[in-house]
Amino acid sequence: MQVVVLVSGSGSLLQALIDDDAHGKVYEIVAVGADRECTGLERATLAGIPTFTVETRHFPERSQWDTALADAIERAFSDADDLDLAALTGGDVAARQLVVSAGFMKILGAQTLSRHTVINTHPALLPSFPGAHGVRDALAHGVKVTGTTCHVVDAGVDTGPIIDQRVVDVRADDDEESLHERIKVEERTMLVDVVRGFARGWSINGRTVSINE
Ligand code: GRF
Repeated sequence: MQVVVLVSGSGSLLQALIDDDAHGKVYEIVAVGADRECTGLERATLAGIPTFTVETRHFPERSQWDTALADAIERAFSDADDLDLAALTGGDVAARQLVVSAGFMKILGAQTLSRHTVINTHPALLPSFPGAHGVRDALAHGVKVTGTTCHVVDAGVDTGPIIDQRVVDVRADDDEESLHERIKVEERTMLVDVVRGFARGWSINGRTVSINE
């Protein structure tokens, strides 16, 4: 399976995929895309993975940015078409493509979502605490457990079908940073498991994620 990863920040989720034993065996990260210069892009370059950047400020309309992003993802997949996926997977996995939003801090538009299958991770147990401040909002609400969710991206904000979730206890002395760091430990393992799952044949049908291992 070919994977394009989208990042905006430190890229530790991306790094978990790069370091995964299954990377290079059952899936290949063919490119890393970003909406800004960020450490995630540097991690990709260090790993020898091609990168692209599509910044909103270069486009007068948000829909034009979305189309440029969808085009860049498509180019990344087609540039990788000469990848010998059969050899990569031992011949038992169909050549498919997946886009992983891993700390990508922009809402994706209709072009990207209609042309690509995109999954995202969120640092809270959806449907609670969607949006850009899931960790802060959960803490402010006084929850005793929170966690992380991997879901299919649809037109809403963190509303798509849930694929997997992991639970994290909130400690009395947690602040946003300490809690987010513990959530990210679970988030990395979950993302690796989910990407491996798709590489091995999970599929998305409308609002249903079929898990056929
Ligand atoms: C993750 O917690 C993700 O859910 C959130 O931002 C964080 C990204 O971390 N949207 P990193 O950039 O992969 O380290």
